[in-house]
Amino acid sequence: MQSRVSTGIEGLDQILDGGFVRNKSVLIAGGPGTGKTLMALNFLYDGASRFGEKGLYLSLENNVKDVMSDVKATFTDLEWNRYLHKDILAVKLPKKDYGKLSDVVKKAVREGGIKRVVIDSVTMLKIYASNHAEFRTNLLSMIESFRSLDCTIMLISEKPYSQREDNRFSVEEFVSDGVILLYNIPKGELRYRALEVIKMRGVKHTTKLCPYMITPSGIKVFPIESTFWIASEQDKRFTLRANSVEPKKGGLFGKRG
Ligand SMILES: Nc1ncnc2c1ncn2[C@@H]1O[C@H](COP(=O)(O)OP(=O)(O)OP(=O)(O)O)[C@@H](O)[C@H]1O
Ligand SMILES: [Mg+2]
Repeated sequence: MQSRVSTGIEGLDQILDGGFVRNKSVLIAGGPGTGKTLMALNFLYDGASRFGEKGLYLSLENNVKDVMSDVKATFTDLEWNRYLHKDILAVKLPKKDYGKLSDVVKKAVREGGIKRVVIDSVTMLKIYASNHAEFRTNLLSMIESFRSLDCTIMLISEKPYSQREDNRFSVEEFVSDGVILLYNIPKGELRYRALEVIKMRGVKHTTKLCPYMITPSGIKVFPIESTFWIASEQDKRFTLRANSVEPKKGGLFGKRG
């Protein structure tokens, strides 16, 4: 069996039958605000805090100071200051250096002992590629060249939709070793977060749509629960709060019974 890397995301290892495949690439794709960047940093934090594995977050667009300030504001239970700059490095790669991306990653892995790399996002490489063929060829050769490194790679990609029915698979999903899609599904007045594993080469993974939540201690995925059962529990809480009534114990937010 292939060696695995814990994702650090509660519930996700279970869906993946043990975690990501070590030294392979996984693509996290989703619409705006679905939690792609948070999931990536959750993965790096877990590597540093539980396994002593150094991580590199490569931003191709956003200012890393802003990204880290947002992640600290969201994951307030995590000790970012303990690991940032030492075990988790966050670097912005300017557009003029996109062509050097592979070399930057290889150098960081070989000379800096980095074991987990996040590239946020490959959509930027797509935007600045001269054409579709160039993007596909470059991305594939980059992913293939990373396979010989002792490092697990997480690629982030943007999707212009929120529901699984609207998905049109893109180049990066075909060339990556694994793909996880994040959705923000509209229903009634609310939107509900859910993810699915589209592929994970060599892994017998779940194919169910699984709800997830962004919490102060990290992202939590619920492998068994139904997205809209959780949704109905959330609805209940909102309604009870609005009416200043304490919710009854039961369901996801308390003991059932
Ligand atoms: N404390 C919190 N509790 C719950 N959800 C939060 C909290 N803080 C932020 N969020 C949610 O997380 C989202 C930001 O997550 P993130 O930056 O990882 O998304 P993204 O998919 O990377 O977005 P983008 O496409 O803009 O890069 C916010 O838009 C908000 O919906
Ligand atoms: Mg992001």
